[in-house]
Amino acid sequence: MVAVRVENLTKRFRDETALDKVTFKVEDGEFFVLLGRPGAGKTTTLRTIAGLEKPDEGEIYIKDQLVNDVLPSERNIAMIFQNLALYPSWTVYDNMAFTMKIHKVPKEEINQRIHEVAKTLGIDYLLDRTPATLSGGERQRVAIGRALVRRPSVFLMDEPLGPLDALLRLNMRTELKRLKAELGQAIIYSTPDQLEAMSMADHLAVIHKGVIKQIDDPETIYNKPKNRYVASMIGSPAMNFLEGTFEATDTESYLNCSTFKVNLTKFKEPIERGSTSSELTFGIRPEHIKVNHEKISPDSFEANVIMEEPLGSETILHLNINKELVKAIVPPTFQTKYGEKLWIDFDMNRMHVLDAKTEKVII
Ligand SMILES: Nc1ncnc2c1ncn2[C@@H]1O[C@H](COP(=O)(O)OP(=O)(O)OP(=O)(O)O)[C@@H](O)[C@H]1O
Ligand SMILES: [Mg+2]
Repeated sequence: MVAVRVENLTKRFRDETALDKVTFKVEDGEFFVLLGRPGAGKTTTLRTIAGLEKPDEGEIYIKDQLVNDVLPSERNIAMIFQNLALYPSWTVYDNMAFTMKIHKVPKEEINQRIHEVAKTLGIDYLLDRTPATLSGGERQRVAIGRALVRRPSVFLMDEPLGPLDALLRLNMRTELKRLKAELGQAIIYSTPDQLEAMSMADHLAVIHKGVIKQIDDPETIYNKPKNRYVASMIGSPAMNFLEGTFEATDTESYLNCSTFKVNLTKFKEPIERGSTSSELTFGIRPEHIKVNHEKISPDSFEANVIMEEPLGSETILHLNINKELVKAIVPPTFQTKYGEKLWIDFDMNRMHVLDAKTEKVII
């Protein structure tokens, strides 16, 4: 069943458009991630679904019911905010009980629900303490617990792991995934962190300047980005882009990038069909470039080493191909030094060709 559906959500703040026809749907039990840089419109989307902002246009459905005119407190949604917003002078127990009291849940039941959830999250030993005496991770669990006890039909989580350090984020990521498996409710989760998005999402929406650029499962987002923005947002280091002109003879087609050519003969037809001009962009991820000390194929290019970034499990090489900077990933055992001439080959099964003007991915 569809838990949340938004259609053509548009929100303006004075003359600035924060959301532009945002449309998506989230099924029950689905972990749906909104991935976007600061200012992309993530919080505004969540606040609008929660009813804390009124959209200028568009519809919001929760469990098939149009809720545009339903009060936030009646939407059966729990939102976990970036800053957690726990009441500092109350105990963890009272923080968790608060909304249930407002909804006049009987005392016995409040007590039972809190102890149940506290046990699941491993925070039963914290119930008598105040937020100031908790660690960042404990506060995080309390905020999640406070949302859980309400048994909402949808969870909205706005960068909930934002304030945590790297190791704790990693642990909480695992815990949230486990929780998701147990819960069965829909979770809409916002983050600017692509790794977090990729590792947790069933589906993710890449949002930029209030516009959704693509919605897909993580694998498709990585392998088949629809446009340059999505291609550059996912992957670390980001995809390399090289500008060039498409040229075709009777027998061969290639992308002419000033001082070197990429052979695109086998993609001639889709490129001609999908492009608006001969100005194309070649896209290749650093992990899809082979680097060798010798020329291994007729298509190998010469490149010079500008810099090495050893990361332990792999090394990122910054290479110069005729003044174009290209990053490639090599094993940590790869031996090289500054200025050395190497040979690179693109994995032609993993490369992309984009229309330079529309920035759409053709291949
Ligand atoms: N109350 C407001 N008044 C005016 N402009 C606002 C308001 N709230 C958000 N905006 C603007 O709307 C746009 C989207 O903001 P939003 O907070 O949704 O982004 P975000 O993706 O959550 O960013 P972040 O990652 O920094 O939290 C921004 O340009 C922001 O300045
Ligand atoms: Mg935000």
